[in-house]
Amino acid sequence: MTPVLSLKNYQAFFHTRRGVIKAVNGISYDVFPGQTLAVVGESGSGKSVSQLSYLGLLTGSPLQIMGGQVLFHGQDLVKMDEPQLRAIRGDKIAMIFQEPMTSLNPYLKIGTQLIEPLVIHRKKTKREAWKLGIEALERVGISRPLHRWKPILMNSVEACDSE
Ligand SMILES: Nc1ncnc2c1ncn2[C@@H]1O[C@H](COP(=O)(O)OP(=O)(O)OP(=O)(O)O)[C@@H](O)[C@H]1O
Ligand SMILES: [Mg+2]
Repeated sequence: MTPVLSLKNYQAFFHTRRGVIKAVNGISYDVFPGQTLAVVGESGSGKSVSQLSYLGLLTGSPLQIMGGQVLFHGQDLVKMDEPQLRAIRGDKIAMIFQEPMTSLNPYLKIGTQLIEPLVIHRKKTKREAWKLGIEALERVGISRPLHRWKPILMNSVEACDSE
C-alpha cells in the first residue's frame, strides 16, 4: 500500500542571528490510508515546525527546509511552489492549529472562517457553503449552530425553528 504522507529524512532549520536552530533534524515516517499517527514529544521538540514548515505556513520566519522529502500521494511538497502548495493546503491537507485563541481571527465571524476553504477550493457558493458549514457544526455537537453562525440575523430565523 502506498502511504498518503511520507516524510523521509526531513530537515527544517531556523537561521537566526544567534545561530542555527535545528528544529527538525531528519525525521522520517509514513502515514497510510485510514491510519492515524500521533507524534508525541516534549515542548520545543519540533512537532509543530515539522508540519507547519512543509505546508509553507512559516514564511514570516527565518526557516529553511534543509533536506529530505515530504511525499504527499507521491508528490514532493518540498519541491512545490506556492501556488501548487496553496491548491493542496486547506483542501487536501488541513491543519487544526494549536492555539484556538490566536489561530482564528477574532474580527471575523466563525461562519466566514469556516466556509472559506469550501468557497476557495470546492467552488461552492456562499449559500451552499453555509449549509455545509452549519451541518458540520451540528455534526460535531455544537449546540444552536445557526445562532453561533450569525447571532444577530439568525435570532429571528431561530424563533421560527422548533428548537
Ligand atoms: N520563528 C522561530 N524562530 C526561531 N526558532 C523557532 C521559531 N519557531 C519555533 N522555533 C524553535 O523550533 C523548535 C521547535 O518548536 P515547535 O514549536 O515545533 O515545538 P513543539 O514540539 O510543537 O512544542 P509544543 O509541544 O510546545 O507545541 C523550538 O526550539 C522553537 O524554539
Ligand atoms: Mg507545537
